[in-house]
Amino acid sequence: MASIKLSGEVSIPNDKSITHRSILFSSIADGKSKIKFTSIGRDNLASLRVMRQLGAEVTGSLSKEVYELAKSEGVIQSMALWSKDYSELIVDGKGLHSLRAAGEILDCGNSGTTSRLLCGILAGQKFKVTISGDNSLQSRPFKRITEPLSQMGAVFSSENLPMSITGASLKPIEYKSPKASAQVKSAIFLAGLYCQKPVTVMESSLSRNHTELMLESMGVQVESQQQLDLSWKITSSLNGELAPLEMEIPGDFSAAAFFMVAASVIPDSKILIKNVGFNPSRIGLLDILNKMGADIKPVEKRKVGGEDVVDLIVSYANLTGIDIDATQVVHAIDEIPILAVAAAFANGTTTVSGASELRVKESDRIKMTVEFLSQYGVNIEEKEDGFIIKGGCFSEGAHSVSEGEEAWKHCEDHRIFMSNAVINLAIHSKLELFEKSVVETSFPGFLEQFQGLIKDA
Ligand code: S3P
Repeated sequence: MASIKLSGEVSIPNDKSITHRSILFSSIADGKSKIKFTSIGRDNLASLRVMRQLGAEVTGSLSKEVYELAKSEGVIQSMALWSKDYSELIVDGKGLHSLRAAGEILDCGNSGTTSRLLCGILAGQKFKVTISGDNSLQSRPFKRITEPLSQMGAVFSSENLPMSITGASLKPIEYKSPKASAQVKSAIFLAGLYCQKPVTVMESSLSRNHTELMLESMGVQVESQQQLDLSWKITSSLNGELAPLEMEIPGDFSAAAFFMVAASVIPDSKILIKNVGFNPSRIGLLDILNKMGADIKPVEKRKVGGEDVVDLIVSYANLTGIDIDATQVVHAIDEIPILAVAAAFANGTTTVSGASELRVKESDRIKMTVEFLSQYGVNIEEKEDGFIIKGGCFSEGAHSVSEGEEAWKHCEDHRIFMSNAVINLAIHSKLELFEKSVVETSFPGFLEQFQGLIKDA
């Protein structure tokens, strides 16, 4: 199909989940935190914007790329433009109780992580404040957050955004999370900092544990134990204030995922992805692709900011379809749309089940995945909790339907957009992107990075 191959080295943006946490946590620490990164997107800038609205003192210097985006998001006062290619935030935290009520609504944009983790911090304040977000965020569920935090004592005006939160003197909780969710777990642990007593979250499998790792590095005692039934019990307790952070943010595995799949499905490709966060709770896609027969080699394993990091060498391989269930989905939750692209090129059938959580992400990602893949003639059947793909058999004539602007109509969600770009490239051998600003949610420079890899086959 493709008359191109991918070859060369690619840089990915900094991990979105870890960056959110570094901004939120350092804003309530006691002392000056230093956070170093290269590239971040609009979602992370939403975290920066709301913490500044709440009075966090942030200075530092931004690379040109981040500076331009930050300017358009209204978050650059008191930050200098640095000519070097990395950015540094200096967050002057004044302790857990240093925030103040902003008279205005806190706009979290498109960012679920900003808004849900923020609820945990706001639950422990002595004021009332309203948070909101864009249309997508306003349609996403918040009951999963308001329920445990209400049990701790906070008062919420609604189970959706916009909602006001009235902070309280909180009581500790032992909470069995109905679904393994890092956002729920993190919100509870953040509220727990204000109890100054242990709080416990139980989850059926271990959701991403960046909060635990970062809080531990800030002086919080965290104990994670796997139970006999394989579920997890995690307890966090803080006595006093949070110590400041000094860290570099690793690269985002979820951003690397688009290149991992692209190089795996475009014949003769071989690429090197540098500085990829390799936290075991995040790399479910790698395990899945390996089972499908992919050729992906992690090299140069090291630690960055307390997290595992590797470089990945990815070569084209013949993939085979497999069955993926809920236990695998939890560690690949953001990567299912791009996994579906890999499945479309694999021999045989791939089934994804236990993934109904995808219906309440930035978009209904099951529906959107079915819609964008169908327009390329992929044989995909929608299920309530996933989909079934019969790989390697694109229906004839469908490719021409998916050319031009028409092919991008399902792509208001950044991860759907980038997954669409990968299949579009694999089929049409060129990168033609419409409405490309949507990638800036998580991956400014996505297009340029891809263009740098494209070589004639
Ligand atoms: C995130 C957790 C996940 C993930 C989201 C980022 C985080 O959501 O899908 O993109 O940074 O905590 P859930 O916690 O709802 O599973």
